[in-house]
Formats: sequence, structure tokens, C-alpha cells
Amino acid sequence: MSEPKVWAKKSTFIFAAAGSAIGLGNLWKFPYMVGENGGGAFVLVYLLCVLLIGIPLMMSESIVGKYSHGNAIDAISQTAKRSNASQHWRGIAIFSMVTIFIILSFYSVIAGWAFDYTYAFATGEIGTGVDEVGKYFGELLGDSKRLIIWHSVFMLLTAVIIARGAQEGIEKALGVMMPVLFVLLFIVVAYSAFATGKFGDTLTYMFNPDFSKITPVVVIKAMGQAFFSLSLGMCVIMTYAAYMRKDVSITESSLYVSGLDTVMALLAGLAIFPIVFANGLDSGSGPGLLFVTLSTAFSQLGTIGVILGVAFFFLVIIAALSSSISMVEPFVKWCEEHNINRIVATFAYCLAVWAFGLITVYSFNDWSVVEFFGTEAKPFLGMGKSPFDALDFLTSSVFLPLGGLLTALYVGWAMNKMISREQLFTLNGALFGLWLFIMRFVAPIMIGIIFVFYALGEETMNTFIAYVTNLFK
Ligand code: PHE
Repeated sequence: MSEPKVWAKKSTFIFAAAGSAIGLGNLWKFPYMVGENGGGAFVLVYLLCVLLIGIPLMMSESIVGKYSHGNAIDAISQTAKRSNASQHWRGIAIFSMVTIFIILSFYSVIAGWAFDYTYAFATGEIGTGVDEVGKYFGELLGDSKRLIIWHSVFMLLTAVIIARGAQEGIEKALGVMMPVLFVLLFIVVAYSAFATGKFGDTLTYMFNPDFSKITPVVVIKAMGQAFFSLSLGMCVIMTYAAYMRKDVSITESSLYVSGLDTVMALLAGLAIFPIVFANGLDSGSGPGLLFVTLSTAFSQLGTIGVILGVAFFFLVIIAALSSSISMVEPFVKWCEEHNINRIVATFAYCLAVWAFGLITVYSFNDWSVVEFFGTEAKPFLGMGKSPFDALDFLTSSVFLPLGGLLTALYVGWAMNKMISREQLFTLNGALFGLWLFIMRFVAPIMIGIIFVFYALGEETMNTFIAYVTNLFK
């Protein structure tokens, strides 16, 4: 067998995985999910999910990938063989690939908005003030042709990078761009804090949870968001870990990646909510939140605003690209390792994703309310009102945690413990025991309970909680 391909530098995995994790999930999705799902209540559940399920699961995916150095399907197959476990566990990777296919299809459409905004700031088309910016955004969503053009540009760029195997170039660039994005976000937070006088309100809103807002739907969405943002439950981390050098510590890398990802999401929230409160905007206005709020602030700052606007949305595109390439790599790596031409595989896959993405394009105009998903006020099972809402909910909140649940069961129970012990070489006995306990019990039970409560609905949950509280009285 030839030597496995590994990254030259120790830190490359961290950059690649952080590049995958940090993206639209942090900058675009996290703030509007917080706004739609009860502010601090959502943030609290989100943070708990990152800590109790996210980080340990990132370690598990890394173990399987790093052990086998192959694509995710064969990585599971190899570890299963060594553990005398069933080959059916490979189903996890296949299921994940279907999920990322759907996610990438809408991810690309949203990333397209960032292209449009970079252009609009550069040309001054965006207008000034909240009304004009809001109108600009409305027009963009209504114009399916424009959405399709930007969606195509984004998918094409993703395909070219992957086909040329140019990820390493991107990762090097990320070493520069990520810190810039971080600093820029920091500047925006500082601006929002000082210019609006609403920073105190924002802190209360995000970090002082109103426990009555914790409903099954909020919990399942917060959990889904944690998976989405950390790129978990999709074999993406597994795929990247295949290139990890032997001497890299899985625990340390997982902590870094999750930490950076969480900080970025919180910063995005801190940048956006002061502007929401100062302009009397609706925090629950959904996917447009980032695009309307920050642009409103930038639009009022003259030339500096133009520079900030162009720079910010350009960095959003880069962050999105470093995530989108991680969504294509799992499938393409499999093809490559099964003698299918990398370029053909990439373009065929991206073309299929592009076509599927049209569903999302039309979700913002012609199909924005589809009766099948319930009424606007009371969406069917919390899925939302358009095909995009439903696809997002099903993939992020249901499929990803399900993929995570299966991974936890596989790594915790079916896979030979020696494999994980070997890979988590930096952990002492007690910490390894804790990690294993989380994989075997905490993660599966938590995800299981969240699913069950969600399926049973809010009333049943409340009755149950009242019953349990009574027992302890
Ligand atoms: N984690 C990425 C983000 O936050 C999105 C992503 C999802 C990346 C799935 C890879 C796989 O934007």
C-alpha cells in the first residue's frame, strides 16, 4: 500500500476543520436562529449541545478518519473490520453524504446573496438606511434570475477548487483571511456597541435566558444548529481527519476548532442585535437578518461603510467557500479512491447540487409559502413555511443529529475500544473514560430524548416535567 497522504503541517487540520466549521452557519444562521427561537434560551441550549455532544463527537469522527486515512465510507468499513463489527455501519457515511448534498444545495444559494452584496456595496446600489436596504434585500429575493446567477457562480467556484485539488491553497489563504474576518467582526461589534447604545440590551437578550422559552422545537433547533455549525454528523470532519498527521492531538484540535467556531457565532450575534434593537427591527425576521442589519449600519457610514461592506461580504464568501469545499470532498474522495476521475466526479456532483438548489431559489419568491407545510402562523411540526425552511429543518435538526447519534453508538459501542484509546493518546485514563461515557450514554440519550420530546410535542413535555418535579417535592 502506498503511504497515506497527510498534511505537511501540524496545524493544517485545525485550519481546514475550522474553515469548514466557520461559515454561514456562524455569521448568517446563528443570529437569526437566536432571534427566532427565544434569544438567551436558544444560546444556552446551543452552548450545552456544543459542550456535551459537539466536542466529544468531533473527537469521535476524527478518530475514525485519522485511523484509516481513507474516505469516510471505507474509514468506517476498516474500523468495523478491525472491531469485528457489522459492515452495515457504513450506512452512516452514505446517509451523511445525502444530507450534505441537500445542505450544500441551499448553502450555495445563500452564499450567492453575499456575492450580490459585495457587488452592491462596491457599486453603491445598496442604498442608505434601513428602508432602502430592506427594499434592496426584498428585491434580491424576488428576483429568481439574479439568485440563480450568483448560486451558479458559487457552485462553479466550489467545483473548480475541488476539481483542481486546490484545497491546500485555500487553507493557506485561510490562515490570513480568518484572522482578518475575526478582526473585522470585532470592529463591527465595537461599532454596534458604541454607536447604538444597545449593547447592554443585547447582552441581556443573549445571555440571560428566559427559561419559559425552552420548548421542544427550540431545543431541537439549537441542537441542530450546533451540529450544523461544527460541521458534525456529516462525515466532513472524518474526511478531513484522514489527512491528519500521526502526532497531532485529536483532543486539542477538536477543542480549538469548536472554540473558534463558537466565538465566531457569538461575535456575529453581538454585532447584529444592537443594530436590530436600535433600528426597531424584528429579531425574529428570519434568514434576512444578517443581510439587512449589518448592511444598514454600513450604509450609514459613507466611504468607510463601503469599504467595510465590501470587505465583510467578501470575507463571508471566503468563509462560505471554505465550508462548501468541505461538503464536496467526502464524496469526491470516495470516487477518487474507487478509480473515478476526480474532475468528472466533482462536476457531476456539483451540477446535481446546483439543480437541487433551484428549490431553494424559488422558496424565496414563487414558493415562499407552501400550504403543505402548515400555515404561516403554525408551521407543520415546526418545519417552517417554505420548501427551504423544511429542507433546512429536516437536514440540520433531524438528519444531522441522527447521523451524530449513529456515530456515537458506533464509536461508543461497536468499534473496538483499543482504536480510540490509541488515537486519544494525549488523554489520561479518567478523561478517556469520561469521553467514552459521553459517547456511550450522554450523547445518545440526550439526542434520543430531544427527538422523543419533539415528536411528542410541547404539552406532553410540560406534563412530564411537572410530573418529575412533583416526584422531587
Ligand atoms: N459548518 C458550516 C457553517 O457553519 C456549514 C457546514 C455544514 C460545513 C455541513 C460542512 C458541512 O457554515
